[in-house]
Amino acid sequence: MKGPCAVKITAACIQFPVQFAMADANRAVMADLVGSAPQADLLVLPELAVSGYDFPDLATAQSLAESFEEGPTRRLVTALAAERNATLIVGYAEQAPEGLYNSCMLVMPDGAAVNYRKLHLFNREQRWFLPGDKPAPVVDTPAGRIGLLVCFDWFFPEAARSLALRGAQILAQPANLVLPWCQRAMFARSVENRVFTLTANRIGTDTAAGRELCFTGQSQIVSPHGETLAAAPSDAPATITATLDLALADDKTVAGENHLFENRRPEFYPGL
Ligand code: ACM
Repeated sequence: MKGPCAVKITAACIQFPVQFAMADANRAVMADLVGSAPQADLLVLPELAVSGYDFPDLATAQSLAESFEEGPTRRLVTALAAERNATLIVGYAEQAPEGLYNSCMLVMPDGAAVNYRKLHLFNREQRWFLPGDKPAPVVDTPAGRIGLLVCFDWFFPEAARSLALRGAQILAQPANLVLPWCQRAMFARSVENRVFTLTANRIGTDTAAGRELCFTGQSQIVSPHGETLAAAPSDAPATITATLDLALADDKTVAGENHLFENRRPEFYPGL
């Protein structure tokens, strides 16, 4: 096994059509896809990959939520991380004592796990989920230093910047994207922070809320220099992989005489 902050790692994003409210079936699909993925140090799966996204009401969301500490998804992801000797990141609906969160769990091969509760809830999510109550974490893993975002967090560049300033080499983003801009915007998040970005989006349509909500796929892996290293289609399941040279993310110099972080002028950014 590689030690913390290995220089080159292999990363994968897994894209599939989550079936609304079919938690057991979705967990089985996840297990198959992770089990058959090419060997990778890091595998990222979509947001709300177990429950589906577009809940008709709070009761349905509650019925599909589970605890971080001892839920069936945590058990499965822990087993898969050990089996594949990989760090896994999966989005799920979290049941906490005070309510529900739209969360993702990061689980390492030895079973160590970190939870992130989405800070920026999108549209109707605000009806069922509480907004995250802690900063997004940067986690030292055998696959590098990983900062966590969930989907709509991309719309708030401060979130990505905060992760990069705290040393993240990779921003991993489980997603259920419906707006058309994120994939292009993650180019900017990568370049302006000099980090790898991994967007694992879902495909398919949710209809349980009495409307058709279509998810845009196009999962992607973007380098700190803005190169698209791997990209998935908009309408088919896919597992995309790329080799990430993490040293690229550690080098914050630009054009020889600039430095991405040292050249910041936060005293002249009123309002931030
Ligand atoms: C989103 O944040 N799932 C659009």
